[in-house]
Amino acid sequence: MPAPTTRCDETVAWTALRGHFEAHGRELDLRTLFADDPARFERFAVQAPQVFADLSKNLWDEVTRRLLVELAGQCGLEARRDAMFAGEPINTTEGRSVLHTALRAPRGAAPFSDEVHEVLDRLLGCAERVRAAAGPDGFTDVVNIGIGGSDLGPRMAVQSLRPFAHEALRFHFVSNVDGHDITPVLQGLRPERTLFIIASKTFTTQETMANAAVAREWFVSQCEAQGRPADVARHFIGVTTNLPAAAAFGITETFGFWDWVGGRYSLWSAIGLPLAIAIGAAAFRELLAGAHAMDRHFAEAPLAQNLPVQLGLLDVWYRNFHGFTSRSVAPYHQGLARLPAYLQQLEMESNGKSVDMAGRALGHATSPVVWGEPGTNGQHAYFQQLHQGTDVVPVEFIAVKQPAHGHGDLHTKLLANCLAQSQALMLGKTAEEAAGETAPTASATLDRAVLARHRRFPGNRPSTTLVLDSLTPRSLGALIALYEHRVFTSGAIWGINSFDQWGVELGKALCNQLLPRFASGDASGLDASTAGLLARLRS
Ligand code: F6P
Repeated sequence: MPAPTTRCDETVAWTALRGHFEAHGRELDLRTLFADDPARFERFAVQAPQVFADLSKNLWDEVTRRLLVELAGQCGLEARRDAMFAGEPINTTEGRSVLHTALRAPRGAAPFSDEVHEVLDRLLGCAERVRAAAGPDGFTDVVNIGIGGSDLGPRMAVQSLRPFAHEALRFHFVSNVDGHDITPVLQGLRPERTLFIIASKTFTTQETMANAAVAREWFVSQCEAQGRPADVARHFIGVTTNLPAAAAFGITETFGFWDWVGGRYSLWSAIGLPLAIAIGAAAFRELLAGAHAMDRHFAEAPLAQNLPVQLGLLDVWYRNFHGFTSRSVAPYHQGLARLPAYLQQLEMESNGKSVDMAGRALGHATSPVVWGEPGTNGQHAYFQQLHQGTDVVPVEFIAVKQPAHGHGDLHTKLLANCLAQSQALMLGKTAEEAAGETAPTASATLDRAVLARHRRFPGNRPSTTLVLDSLTPRSLGALIALYEHRVFTSGAIWGINSFDQWGVELGKALCNQLLPRFASGDASGLDASTAGLLARLRS
């Protein structure tokens, strides 16, 4: 893989961007930019497969965009991208290729095609068998037990694609090692109608193994109570790269995947089994086709019209030049309610790093905090801060043109809210404008000018709006792949390894050391806070 020889903050383009930011990039005003350029919307519109993006309400101009594209070139983005698609071991700290794109490539079109399509065909065959037998005489409930990448993707996608799901099947997702997660799920189940999927790339993750053991124990005891044989082999399926561990658990039907599929990039692999059961083989292939179309766009579109690249470059602009620390994602579609949680792992586990590929400390910031809730709910919670708070938070709106329900009036209101929010963030309201309005609940004693200052909106707050025609397996596949490649883009510019996650290891190791102390009470060698809390939690 091409080694990043030049750090992004040592490139000519970075220096030029710094100069541009100080000279006038910092002062760019969206209201003026729109007034001066009637074609701004078209100029900053990008059409990618299934996803249209309005990038015009961002704090940039043509000069910014040109310099950011130059930065991408000087940081070797295209060479790194091509190395990923080719299967070079770009995940250097784990010595692995990064080939989630191969999971959605047509037969013969990417590395490992034979293995990928053999498992995919078998997986989809299994999904169809479960669907065919679904109902009062077969399975009624599917429980996915997994965490992180073995949970967030399928959970988010099953919820997103509910209108396409088999009507006789209910889906449950258990991830937390907190027994409050699995207990209510088990309470509503009948063992003879339940299929458990134990999803874990490593098949060693503490939370998943503990919950899987609880589920098996529950299943066996329930079957015994009913006087029927506990057919674990029929009711438990494993999805893992660790086939021997799954076999040791008592699972006979297992779907494998490979170490070149990162956990947070694994929805397209056998980890997608709950989704495949929910929507069926044909729709799952549509999801893959949507993602593949986005892969081709990322691989082939010129950088200035390449949507994942443009979004990744905006992330760099906001994080490293404006200094914005977070980005809010507001999907105006209830089906996408879990998308922000999914994106938290995708973006923050990938790009929450502070050394470059060579292990050198970085001199610049990396991943923003990513957070959000579906609209319009967020409007009645934290949008106050987005409009009038002291921090600027770029917002990403996701609008879906066609709903999957018949309440057109609700949908029109939803979309009007979505547009109104990005408009309000941009336009703001001056104190003079506020003073000219009649305040709905003005205090008789409060000076009118003081009240107007409370009712002022600074405006000029940036946002991006992504538009899908409808939320389908194909468009969801494209949307998720868009985010994956956007994360790749900013990670490549920052010169980091977006595909390892060493930062989660220390807590796991310390937890394993603490576990026996809960039984023994031994606090020797612990810091005073941990020792004090241990004593309190044990008493
Ligand atoms: O949290 C760390 C992590 O390794 C994630 O990267 C991964 O998605 C998750 O744990 C679950 O891992 P596994 O699929 O091996 O159980």
